[in-house]
Amino acid sequence: MENITMSRRTVSQLAYVELATPDLQKSRDFFVNVLGLTEIAQTGDGIFLRAWGDFLPYSLQLVEGPVPEARRIGWRADSAEDLEHVVEVLKADGREGEWTGENIGRGRAYQFRSPGGHGHEIFWDIKQLAVPEELRSTYPNRRQKFSPVGVAARTIDHVTFGTDDVLRDVLWFRDKLNFRYMEYTALDESPETVFFGMVSSTEQAHNLGIMQNATDVRGAVHHVAYWVDQEIDVYRAADVLIEAGFPVEFGPGKHGMGENTFLYVREPSGFRIELFSGGYRNYMPDWEPVGWTPSRGSLDAFRNRSVPDSINELFPGGRAGAIDHNGTAEQSPFAIPGIS
Ligand SMILES: [Fe+2]
Repeated sequence: MENITMSRRTVSQLAYVELATPDLQKSRDFFVNVLGLTEIAQTGDGIFLRAWGDFLPYSLQLVEGPVPEARRIGWRADSAEDLEHVVEVLKADGREGEWTGENIGRGRAYQFRSPGGHGHEIFWDIKQLAVPEELRSTYPNRRQKFSPVGVAARTIDHVTFGTDDVLRDVLWFRDKLNFRYMEYTALDESPETVFFGMVSSTEQAHNLGIMQNATDVRGAVHHVAYWVDQEIDVYRAADVLIEAGFPVEFGPGKHGMGENTFLYVREPSGFRIELFSGGYRNYMPDWEPVGWTPSRGSLDAFRNRSVPDSINELFPGGRAGAIDHNGTAEQSPFAIPGIS
């Protein structure tokens, strides 16, 4: 029985994102009244919001800051031992972080930075918070009832960030935190230039997207995505957002990568939020990453629409852009050649 190794996940799920916004009240009102999240607490650490289907107490921590930015990505370890294991792995990798105390229900967490400068924290202990009486579900498997407000986002889904070296970060999350490397996109004219990679710690096609940032801004994030129950709900969300005064930046459409239905919108501070549904679930432990190019439909599966230049903006600064082997920055890497 020696030499038997077990492969298992280390990170169980994306738990929450800490989002800074210059106008806390306006952003709070967007997430509550338009996206349909529920405010569960306001403390000196910010405003804590949950989607009705989140299994954890909250998925968004809104704080005030001078510019819109995702300051920290919160992950739950797969066990108490996995949390300790991650801390050891980070120390061995020279990425020593620090422990932080409890935060409304979440036990202590270890804060660290991944190679591209992004802030993360990982925890195990979590206490559920009481959902207000009037929001409790009559179903035993739901903490909160489906009582739709606006878009009625069901749960947090994934985060996509921009970094100076996509493959370095993809392989770091694979090798250090046991994510699977699922899919990637390379430039049509330069197949060795990978500018987008998807990694996953779950059955999702990704719960972390990694995109090339053509600038030297470190730690920038492209978007935070929330799941809606049905693909048709992405189209319903477009109606709700437009009528509420929040133009859709791109979509609704379907990504080739992951096969998900999507749209992108900006919350009041300008930070990009994605609404997302559909796609596949993948349990293959020996999955080999699948390669795309824009012309094969990586971002737009139907391959028939232009991509707005605004989609390249990152927060708190920077631009998505692929740098090919000649050192040329391609400023709209997702655009399909010939469609403008
Ligand atoms: Fe996304």
